[in-house]
Amino acid sequence: MLADHTSQKHLFIETYGCQMNIADSELIAAILGTVGYELTDDLAAADAVVVNTCSIRDNAEQRVKGRLSELCGIRKHRKIIIGIMGCMAQRLGDELLSMGADIVAGPDSYRDLPHLFAEAELGHKSISAALSTTETYSDLRPVRLPSSAFTAFVSIMRGCNNFCSYCIVPYTRGRERSRSVQSILEEIATYQMNGRHEITLIGQNVNSYNYKDEQGNTTSFATLLSEVATQFPDLRIRFTTSHPKDMTDDILETIAKYPNVCNHIHLPLQSGSSRILKLMNRHYNIDDYMARIESIRRIIPDCGITTDVFCGFSSETEEDHKETLRIMEEVGYDSAFMFQYSERPGTYAAKHLPDDVPADVKNRRLQEIIALQNRLSLESNNRDVNKVFDVMIEGRARRSAEQVIGRTQQNKAVVLDAAPDLKVGSIVKVKITSASQATLLGERI
Ligand code: 5AD
Ligand code: SF4
Repeated sequence: MLADHTSQKHLFIETYGCQMNIADSELIAAILGTVGYELTDDLAAADAVVVNTCSIRDNAEQRVKGRLSELCGIRKHRKIIIGIMGCMAQRLGDELLSMGADIVAGPDSYRDLPHLFAEAELGHKSISAALSTTETYSDLRPVRLPSSAFTAFVSIMRGCNNFCSYCIVPYTRGRERSRSVQSILEEIATYQMNGRHEITLIGQNVNSYNYKDEQGNTTSFATLLSEVATQFPDLRIRFTTSHPKDMTDDILETIAKYPNVCNHIHLPLQSGSSRILKLMNRHYNIDDYMARIESIRRIIPDCGITTDVFCGFSSETEEDHKETLRIMEEVGYDSAFMFQYSERPGTYAAKHLPDDVPADVKNRRLQEIIALQNRLSLESNNRDVNKVFDVMIEGRARRSAEQVIGRTQQNKAVVLDAAPDLKVGSIVKVKITSASQATLLGERI
């Protein structure tokens, strides 16, 4: 008997990892919606569960493996289809089928999902994990997940060509490809129509966005950004992630020019040691990086600057680590994502650069990085006291019904008193009255 694609079935989606995975989960929801799967946020009511996975570090993979075995436990008591998607699906393939998954689908295989789910409904296991050089899913309109963030993530490019020596992404997400300008603008228009107030343009390396149309005309990231800013003056626009080597002044000038493009740049440092950066194949040294920071400060004086950094890469010495701390201090980041190095099978580093920093040393260095950033975040927030910011309201504050939470352009959370006219999406001028490491408190002026 053929599976009945018209009856209502319920789909539960669980997302791990980066913003690209959140955007992909919204695509998966759209694709499975066409064959009768309606989203649910109740696992107990689901006929199928999709786990969208991340391979960036080993602990991310271990968490998913634990989750998969829990789901297999649930499947012993009732019929449920278990699909594993995303980077782990691409990297591990068949191994996940033998660990109990019914469906395995990599990031470029989501158009196969109707077929894969039809097979699974008949009790057959299936896998689709070919990488594509062209797939951007540009014709599909993502479906908002029940858990979606305030901002709507708009994927503008997929994949990565950088091959940083430690990174698994080029292997799990394939080569860089940019999505058409038209399809990006159309997607943003639907978000605006649906009452969204903010969008975030996302890609592994957004500043190498480069779309070539049929006439051979190319659009750079700076051009795309100004186009989006001009067409959607009422939306706040953010973007992530930027690679320091591609963070050109024309992008900075575009950010400075448009009031609706947020003054915030996430600029991954990774390491403060030029020797380590070379081993990482990052294509910049510390002087180049600091020159970018100076340009940001010059062109966008009130820009928020955040980063990614990790310790314990191959051969990292105490001196290299101190350099990282010194650069963090010199830049004075507003916040940071901080990690320890996790060797990923198949990368250049796994093949050629020994994972030789002992676990206890990695741990201690990470604690030092976190302690420093905690102080830097507090100092950054303290500098904002008595200043006035445009704050976009995102919703009720978690701790009190009489307060709302919003965000500055610099991407800092601000808590202020609620008022009847303060609706989600409104932008108000707020004077900061006090600060903690994580939040600013303010009053409307
Ligand atoms: N180990 C630790 N951190 C990593 N990152 C990427 N690959 C690894 C790895 N193998 C970090 C980088 C990157 C962020 C998304 O994750 O800081 O910017
Ligand atoms: Fe990984 Fe480097 Fe590409 Fe970022 S730029 S996804 S760290 S290879």
